[in-house]
Amino acid sequence: MIDFYLNGQRQQCADVSPDTSALELLRLFLGKTGTKEGCASGDCGACTVAIGEPDGQGGLVYHNANACIMPAHQLHGCHLVTVEGLARGDALHPVQAAMVDCHGSQCGFCTPGIIMSLFTLHEDQRHRPAPLTQERLESALGGNLCRCTGYRPIRDAALSMNEYPDTHPTWADDPDLPRNVETLFTDATQASRPAPRETTGYAMPRDLASLRELRRQHPGSRLVAGGTDLWLEVTQQLKPLEDVVDVHQVAELNTIEETADGWWVGAAVTYRRLEPLFAEHYPAFAHLMHRFASSQIRNRATMGGNVANASPIGDTPPVLLALDARLALDGPEGQRELPIDSFFLDYKKTALQEGEFIRAIFLPRLEERQLKVWKLSKRREDDISAVLAAFSWRLDDGVMRDVHLAFGGMAAIPRRAPQAEAALEGQPPAPAAFEAARAALRQEFQPLDDVRGSSEYRLVAAANLLERLRLMLHKETQTRHDNNTAEVCLDAYAH
Ligand SMILES: Cc1cc2nc3c(=O)[nH]c(=O)nc-3n(C[C@H](O)[C@H](O)[C@H](O)COP(=O)(O)OP(=O)(O)OC[C@H]3O[C@@H](n4cnc5c(N)ncnc54)[C@H](O)[C@@H]3O)c2cc1C
Ligand code: FES
Ligand code: FES
Repeated sequence: MIDFYLNGQRQQCADVSPDTSALELLRLFLGKTGTKEGCASGDCGACTVAIGEPDGQGGLVYHNANACIMPAHQLHGCHLVTVEGLARGDALHPVQAAMVDCHGSQCGFCTPGIIMSLFTLHEDQRHRPAPLTQERLESALGGNLCRCTGYRPIRDAALSMNEYPDTHPTWADDPDLPRNVETLFTDATQASRPAPRETTGYAMPRDLASLRELRRQHPGSRLVAGGTDLWLEVTQQLKPLEDVVDVHQVAELNTIEETADGWWVGAAVTYRRLEPLFAEHYPAFAHLMHRFASSQIRNRATMGGNVANASPIGDTPPVLLALDARLALDGPEGQRELPIDSFFLDYKKTALQEGEFIRAIFLPRLEERQLKVWKLSKRREDDISAVLAAFSWRLDDGVMRDVHLAFGGMAAIPRRAPQAEAALEGQPPAPAAFEAARAALRQEFQPLDDVRGSSEYRLVAAANLLERLRLMLHKETQTRHDNNTAEVCLDAYAH
């Protein structure tokens, strides 16, 4: 049973198969066809909806999400808001009124999704009033494509929506709604029993013990966290998903624990929740997040899923390799810790044993180490890397120490470049050492040719990113020693 609120009305949907998406539930089961299907792969944003969850202060906080790749069962205990739920009778919501006045819609296919992304931005602004910067706007709309209107009218609508009378949706008049949603949500999060497998095949354990038990009983079941990788198997490869264990509400996988040496990040913590930690302690990681997928994806996806998915072009594994991160693995047979560079074995093959799962990822403190992350992709927003470089090092008396050079997109697995690292280790960041490191890169990688880039492009791009690191260090040294402001073009496209 999926028990949730849809535009203020309680919905109880029984017998929903495990591989049903939130979009299918809306369109096929509930007859709510305002939410559209474009790509069914999280890329276009036509299916964007708003998910409301308790904010811990008696209210609800809304984020946008792609309904096409969101498991319908994850709606349990949420308030789902769709484009049908915004107007108050004939009075349009400010977002809708602004889109009409600014001519933000032509064929209208993308419009419900754009409206819902703007709705969550509008809600965010109501709670955290702040100037609507270009960056914030891009972040809010980066996951919504429009093929015909052009983005300027949509941007104009976003910039003017706060000037309209604040017409609330009818459901916002219900003072009990947040409490009612919280009751469902809390029931869901506190229940320690696994869901009845025999009826749905979709289990949503709430604690580690239940998760272990489910993995023991069903070692072949598929784990899902945010679903932003896994669900593509359903929508793109049309594979059935019959036995699913959902980890996104397992309490122990949702914590961020600080220790003297770093942070244990639970495998089910979403990127959205990681933003403050990254912003304060890993600015380069925070910067990467602006280039990682879209807000719809970052709101639901996890680093645990990114690592377990083991894609050679996943963005966080090279960063974790550069940081010397560690993994806490867990399962019916017990727990163990593994350095991240022992985890990726071959293309999409990992060290996870049958029934095992990732419980948490340890991020060591940077201390005096520095970290730089550069992602190369064809588009700036919502695109997969062609090459991603994550470099970490420290400068000790003018020489480089603890050099870690990790790459995505350069091999069948995300991996470090030991020969290039050796060429820099103990050396000052001078041209000769970097030239040797660039030559070593050519020896140790034979990247693939694919739609994102040829093998040669990848080799040249990776070497150029190393050169960029040298120029950056050179600029820093010059600025420190001679106050020389020599211009080096370091803020070009890859950022
Ligand atoms: C439109 C779009 C854009 C994207 N852009 C990017 C991008 O820019 N960069 C990038 O790196 N990725 C990108 N992705 C891929 C995806 O969003 C990320 O890999 C994300 O981090 C996956 O996390 P998730 O929680 O959604 O994983 P899920 O889809 O839930 O799971 C992914 C895999 O990990 C397994 N799994 C999940 N949790 C665990 C666990 N705790 N233990 C063991 N196994 C587990 C699942 O069984 C599955 O095999 C994009 C995806 C889409 C659809
Ligand atoms: S239909 Fe394109 S993102 Fe969902
Ligand atoms: S209005 Fe046609 S796709 Fe945006």
